[in-house]
Amino acid sequence: MKQKPAVSIVGMGYVGLCTAATFASRGIQTIGIDIDQARVEQIRKGKAPLHEPQLDTMLKNAVKKKLLDATSEISVAADTETTFLAVGTPGQQDGSIDLSYIKNATEDLGSVLREKPGYHLIVVKSTVVPGTTNGVVKRFLEQSSRKTIGAGLGLCANPEFLKEGTAINDALHPDKIVIGSNDKKSADELTRLYRHFYGSKLPPVILTSPEAAELVKYASNAFLATKVSFINTIANIAQQIPGVDVGTIAEAIGLDPRIGGLFLKSGPGYGGSCFHKDLQALINYIQNRNYDPVLFRATEETNKQQANRVVGMAENLLGSLSSKRVAVLGLAFKKDTDDIREAASIRVINQLKKKGARVVAYDPMAIPNTKKTLSDQIDYAENAHSALKGADCAIIMTEWDQFRQLVPKDFQTHMTAPNIVDARRILDPKQFAQLNYLAIGTGSVKA
Ligand SMILES: NC(=O)c1ccc[n+]([C@@H]2O[C@H](COP(=O)([O-])OP(=O)(O)OC[C@H]3O[C@@H](n4cnc5c(N)ncnc54)[C@H](O)[C@@H]3O)[C@@H](O)[C@H]2O)c1
Repeated sequence: MKQKPAVSIVGMGYVGLCTAATFASRGIQTIGIDIDQARVEQIRKGKAPLHEPQLDTMLKNAVKKKLLDATSEISVAADTETTFLAVGTPGQQDGSIDLSYIKNATEDLGSVLREKPGYHLIVVKSTVVPGTTNGVVKRFLEQSSRKTIGAGLGLCANPEFLKEGTAINDALHPDKIVIGSNDKKSADELTRLYRHFYGSKLPPVILTSPEAAELVKYASNAFLATKVSFINTIANIAQQIPGVDVGTIAEAIGLDPRIGGLFLKSGPGYGGSCFHKDLQALINYIQNRNYDPVLFRATEETNKQQANRVVGMAENLLGSLSSKRVAVLGLAFKKDTDDIREAASIRVINQLKKKGARVVAYDPMAIPNTKKTLSDQIDYAENAHSALKGADCAIIMTEWDQFRQLVPKDFQTHMTAPNIVDARRILDPKQFAQLNYLAIGTGSVKA
């Protein structure tokens, strides 16, 4: 790299890499740091190690222009002015978050900053429970760097709100930036960086304490997850009432600005790496402080049960699922990603297997990741048509655009009988009226 990089980002996963690519796209010298050497090599070649729309092109350009580089050597962080921590904070058995990646990264970072003569700002982008930035992170940084936050080091909590599948667009056009800090200089430095990044399009910046910033992230995900479980509950009610469709209910209530129309799509339950993990972390965090957040436990339980609803709909069509061949269309937790972490498809597949069904699955992107989890417990098809071949039932689990293109003939031609469970409500019920078609939240049958 010719120029000194201005920003380093520790952790080149969804958040770190998308952040790095967008920083670089705005001319900010960025270096990504990851312990995964294979990932680093791939990034250095300008190839994204994960599927995210626009990322490949952006990465290729940034690497070509030498605005983005990657390494597994954390020592390079000392040559930058600001280091973002974007390592994983996975859930543990009891729901609490595993802070070991944060601790390791923080300790390593502190050590390499020990000899740095100038000021260095550290920004916690990972999702961490309230008190983590000012607790563990601060302690580890100060111990290993032998410096003091507020003097040689700056520290901010700056949670990330991007969504997989639209991560690049979200990073370029966030609705807000939340900066939590205990000292003005840290907050000013980070605001300055974002002002440089966004120019006149700087979104609203909420300046607050680290603990409040950390809680904003959990509150945001808890609200969204609860909205999903809410509309799924309404869908399950609508499904019991002939002639009622949850889509109409969602449209009508969504027009009330207090409710809002977004995130009111009923389906097989939320998935992805964040909602379940973050809700569990929040529940665990506050239960340890003697408050039981009943609402969030219900959100999670509703979500878990939604997979059973989907399988129940298949049973409505087939009776017993034993030895039946079920085609699962879609594995990714949502379209335009290859991520299957906490995907509803996996919960549904596990239920189907338990009931003795033979499962064949197809997904345009997520088969390699699914194979790592389910290996040969299920069959994999090369396309939707071959998945449908000889199937007794098809379950649409991900709203991929290519599944929207399916027409009745695709099912009639290939399946033993055209039994369809549309867990994403992406097909036109009128077009499929002649087939055995059930959509979640449509009241035509007893679920
Ligand atoms: N994925 C999302 O949509 C999303 C959105 C908002 C916030 N978040 C939060 O952001 C954080 C990161 O999430 P993600 O999905 O990008 O994680 P991820 O698992 O995709 O990536 C984490 C990366 O960190 C690397 N890593 C771990 N320890 C390291 C170390 N000591 N030094 C360098 N690299 C290290 C791993 O090798 C991995 O590549 C989490 O706290 C998550 O909750 C995620």
